[in-house]
Amino acid sequence: MSIRLGDEAPDFKADTTQGPLDFHDWKGKSWAILFSHPKDFTPVCTTELGAVAALKGEFDKRNTKVIGLSVDPIDSHVKWEGDIKDVTGQQVNFPMIADPDRKIADLYGMIHPNASDTMTVRSVFVVGPDNKVKLTLTYPASTGRNFDEVLRVIDSLQLTAGYSVATPADWKDGDDVIIVNSVNDEDAKKKFPKGFTAKKPYLRVTPQPNK
Ligand code: BEZ
Repeated sequence: MSIRLGDEAPDFKADTTQGPLDFHDWKGKSWAILFSHPKDFTPVCTTELGAVAALKGEFDKRNTKVIGLSVDPIDSHVKWEGDIKDVTGQQVNFPMIADPDRKIADLYGMIHPNASDTMTVRSVFVVGPDNKVKLTLTYPASTGRNFDEVLRVIDSLQLTAGYSVATPADWKDGDDVIIVNSVNDEDAKKKFPKGFTAKKPYLRVTPQPNK
């Protein structure tokens, strides 16, 4: 069964490059990103892991832990991390799950047999402090992911979890946001003291409330 938004992220035990862990224990009350890689020693994955390692400070600022998965064993991951450092200049600074029997890949529906029987697709799961799945992305093996977009979505998820707002197309942290329609105008005046503009009765924008 596929994992859908709002589902509990399935717990699992895993061997990783940073030792064995239990996913929910490791994650604790943080946000987390679990993302899969089709195979070790592949070019697009090599660039992706370097890109994510370079963003560690950004994930830390957002109280977000990162964990990768590839269906190869630990010794292979460790050797590959040497190549990633050579190519990207980045030491992989988050655990990489070894999943040679594909138990976790199957649990999360990361193998799409009509794409490949043996490799995972490029999945991303963003999991909230409550262990619920907040975002899923699925990319093909041939397309590397844009991790600035993952950060952008985390900013939106964290903002909208705390305020009665939604974020418009192409929103970035600091831009105006939309007041959700369950808040009437009278309450909106109290909740959003910076005021709001009603472009339509159903489209009211206000400065980002946590800035
Ligand atoms: C890659 O990471 O470059 C890749 C992995 C699997 C299939 C195609 C490309």
